[in-house]
Amino acid sequence: MEAELPEPPVGTGDKNQIAAGNMLFHRFCSSCHGDKAVSAGVLPDLRYSPALQDDTWFDITMKGVLKDNGMVSFQDQLSKEQLENIRQYIIFRANKLL
Ligand code: HEC
Repeated sequence: MEAELPEPPVGTGDKNQIAAGNMLFHRFCSSCHGDKAVSAGVLPDLRYSPALQDDTWFDITMKGVLKDNGMVSFQDQLSKEQLENIRQYIIFRANKLL
């Protein structure tokens, strides 16, 4: 059974951002975080992540603050804009709009 999702942030991404984020997520993140951002339960399901709410998102994905736990920085591979697109995609998924 799927747990109730906490109130997700309001999505501000436009169609192009979401589409780009969808593509990038499935290229760079889904191997660990699950297809369509639904985690199999071992690693964090990003739809539930409080990091979607604020700049913690970039601390994790760019500065690598969780690297000791196995979540590496993507700073060398993705721009801040691309990572923002991924965030908007996940927010859309969290809002069940996609
Ligand atoms: C090699 C596996 C792997 C890949 C690929 C990966 N992650 Fe992670 N990620 C992890 C692990 C492991 C954790 C849990 C870290 C912890 O427990 O502190 C995590 C945690 C996170 C968190 C914190 C979630 C929370 O608990 O609130 C965010 C945000 C995140 N990842 C974003 C991303 C994004 C965005 C991508 C793609 C650009 C990505 N990750 C790709 C392994 C991965």
